[in-house]
Amino acid sequence: MNTLAPSMLSIDFNHMEENLKEVYEAGASLIHVDIMDGTFVPNISFGPPVIKFVKRALPDARMDVHLMVQEPIRLMQRWAKLGADMITFHAEAAVDLKGMIDAIHAEGMKAGVALKPATPVSSIEDVIKDLDMILIMSVEPGFGGQKFMPVALDKIRETRALLDEYGLKTDIEVDGGITLENIDEVLEAGANVIVAGSAIFDNNPGDNVREFLKHLKR
Ligand code: DX5
Ligand code: ZN
Repeated sequence: MNTLAPSMLSIDFNHMEENLKEVYEAGASLIHVDIMDGTFVPNISFGPPVIKFVKRALPDARMDVHLMVQEPIRLMQRWAKLGADMITFHAEAAVDLKGMIDAIHAEGMKAGVALKPATPVSSIEDVIKDLDMILIMSVEPGFGGQKFMPVALDKIRETRALLDEYGLKTDIEVDGGITLENIDEVLEAGANVIVAGSAIFDNNPGDNVREFLKHLKR
């Protein structure tokens, strides 16, 4: 099944509650939350108080937390208590991939690993059976509104082929620069969880979600 995960990095903070409810009511029930620490990426986003706000505004939505942080093992229990359903950390930031995955599962959350555009898919082969999701970055992490990097399409195909080899149905999420223009090729390449930030929140979030969902249902 294909899933849309609106990234609230591009949300208008003046209308946060209203925009969250709009995307949820339009059919997007997985909210992508980008956490940046200013070290792993050259930007800082938001933290626990904002997550609490999302949880209060949309108690039934699921939260897909994308940690762009150094030492992602820290605060694991905190994310779980805040209501995260899924934690994705960067392969480039974690020393012990298996240890991280186990720590996430121990808190009852699903575990994903993210790969920056230059990181090969082979770097996660050792833990592929333990993962619930693989996140292929289609921009350099750190900022919303960047242009989609086509190299991601080959990586999605390669990841899907590798999963097939292992007989796994693991989710492939793609994040960065996805629009209504390129979403079809991203899906065709084999991704099934689509993150979109600026293409949803820059204007009329509810209408944008409805348009995206038409492509996801095809
Ligand atoms: C980038 C973040 C993305 C970002 C996507 O580092 O991980 O989730 O918000 O935004 P768009 O869809 O605008 O590229
Ligand atoms: Zn993200």
